[in-house]
Amino acid sequence: MMRLLGKIALVTGAAGGIGRATALCFAREGALVVLSDIDEPGGHETLEFLEAAGGSGLFLRADVTRESDIVSLYRDLDERLGRVDVVVNIAGGDSEPSAEVEDIDYEKMSANLDLNLKSCILSCREAARIMKRQAAGRIVNMSSLVYRGSPNQFSYSAAKGGIYAFTRSLALSLGRYGITVNALAPALVDVPAFQRALGPERWEMLRQDCARRYPLGRVATPDDVARSALFFASDDASFITGQILEISGGARL
Ligand SMILES: NC(=O)c1ccc[n+]([C@@H]2O[C@H](COP(=O)([O-])OP(=O)(O)OC[C@H]3O[C@@H](n4cnc5c(N)ncnc54)[C@H](O)[C@@H]3O)[C@@H](O)[C@H]2O)c1
Repeated sequence: MMRLLGKIALVTGAAGGIGRATALCFAREGALVVLSDIDEPGGHETLEFLEAAGGSGLFLRADVTRESDIVSLYRDLDERLGRVDVVVNIAGGDSEPSAEVEDIDYEKMSANLDLNLKSCILSCREAARIMKRQAAGRIVNMSSLVYRGSPNQFSYSAAKGGIYAFTRSLALSLGRYGITVNALAPALVDVPAFQRALGPERWEMLRQDCARRYPLGRVATPDDVARSALFFASDDASFITGQILEISGGARL
């Protein structure tokens, strides 16, 4: 049985590794998927894959660090489709992955908070307007296992921890409208962006090092994360809100 049949789902970061896997997974489960990303060619490529697999969707470009883009994204979505059942806020990334505390850079720190935390808050604000009107909705936010703390990812871990706190606050506030709000906290996920950023050799070293340390002996696949997003978006999670799900192969237990 398809678990999102007839649902309309917005996925941000849909050109990226996890966003693409989530969009494709939701389309397989019967959702009409609105793909959004700052990367227009990448977003269209996801749409092509999705349609080739028999799914339906559309791409709307938005830079989630711009409030006006987020507002227009939801306005467009509402005008075209009239509702949104599921929102998965995946767009994100780390602009300052390995700083010493003394070297924290104001611009990079601000970029991390803008891209990861403020974008999530603003997207949820716009989603809540529509979902309150519907008296139903599912919001899934992308945190990270570093919400627990990470020795040299200061602003990124603060943003991801902030997403968890915000998710709980929103769950408290929106529960009575039939809206659930949950967060995903993956450990290392094997996405093409890492290969591009680190080069194949450094990436392979990092991947193997983490795999050795994780109890399940491997890092996550984008699909591991997509299927957890599907769980929160589906009726299986109707009575679950304000939770963070660690998709970590047992890392940092
Ligand atoms: N890969 C991991 O190990 C991992 C672990 C935990 C959490 N995460 C989180 O998962 C999410 C997806 O990451 P990914 O691993 O798929 O990486 P990715 O780089 O493949 O995907 C990120 C996507 O966000 C988009 N994006 C970047 N800036 C944007 C902006 N200003 N507006 C709109 N879109 C923008 C990018 O174009 C890209 O498509 C991120 O929030 C990341 O922090 C990733």
